[in-house]
Amino acid sequence: MTASNKVHPSHLAAAVDAAREAGKVMRRHLSRPKRVHTATAHDVKLELDVECQRIITRCLGRAFPDIPILGEEGIDPVAEKAAVRWVVDPIDGTVNFSQGIPHASVSIARQSRADGAYRTDLGVILDPFQDEIWTAVRGGVARRNGRRIRVSGREQLRDAVISLGFAKTDRELQRMFPAFARLARRVRKIRIMGSAALALAYVADGRFDGYVEYGIRLWDIAAGGLIVECAGGVFEAEATGRGHRYRMQAHNGTVGRELSRVMDLPDDDA
Ligand code: IPD
Repeated sequence: MTASNKVHPSHLAAAVDAAREAGKVMRRHLSRPKRVHTATAHDVKLELDVECQRIITRCLGRAFPDIPILGEEGIDPVAEKAAVRWVVDPIDGTVNFSQGIPHASVSIARQSRADGAYRTDLGVILDPFQDEIWTAVRGGVARRNGRRIRVSGREQLRDAVISLGFAKTDRELQRMFPAFARLARRVRKIRIMGSAALALAYVADGRFDGYVEYGIRLWDIAAGGLIVECAGGVFEAEATGRGHRYRMQAHNGTVGRELSRVMDLPDDDA
């Protein structure tokens, strides 16, 4: 098959198959000791991250040899400019997974380029431990395990459960701490679960009312952003520099204004 700008059902099928293949490996290894590939102060990369991207690359490449992959564990340089590309996070929530915490996912998006900008036109997120798979194709509805899902209807921030991501650099942590303190006083609960892709799937599914992270990478949010939109929610991502970094916020459409206001208040206005 060749790269075409249009999404075809076979693209979705290939992404689902690839996610499930990687998911099998994740399930098999969850409780086993894992070999660390690299570790930094707030992050770890496993050899299984690399292995799962290899599996996904093989599956997608078999079905669509002409579509390059931009992945957390390796970027085909062609993918930086291609008309169509896959954006892959083979294990989102690696730190959870490395410790045997069954909250991690596979995230696969297909993006196409129009007027110099990429937009996601297909998204798949698999939680291999709960056997839940979220899918969306632009223009259609969002689904979990084939059934339509929608964002929550909660209107007030005080009733909301908001998930936050604490990214890995000191700068991002410095920005998030005061926002965390302000938000904690205004929402029902804050949740920090450790997989951005799953947090977005949960927003789409009405389990969370919003998700915010600064310094997040494209492969963590590309699939989830579309799934949120197709579930009736709002996904806002602003590029913040090189390396496919974004500042992002997703919500159910009704708590967004209040959420932005609280996140952006001056730091001493707690
Ligand atoms: C990470 C997770 C985490 C988020 C980080 C991401 P990774 O992805 O999504 O929840 O806070 O910013 O980098 O490294 O496990 O694929």
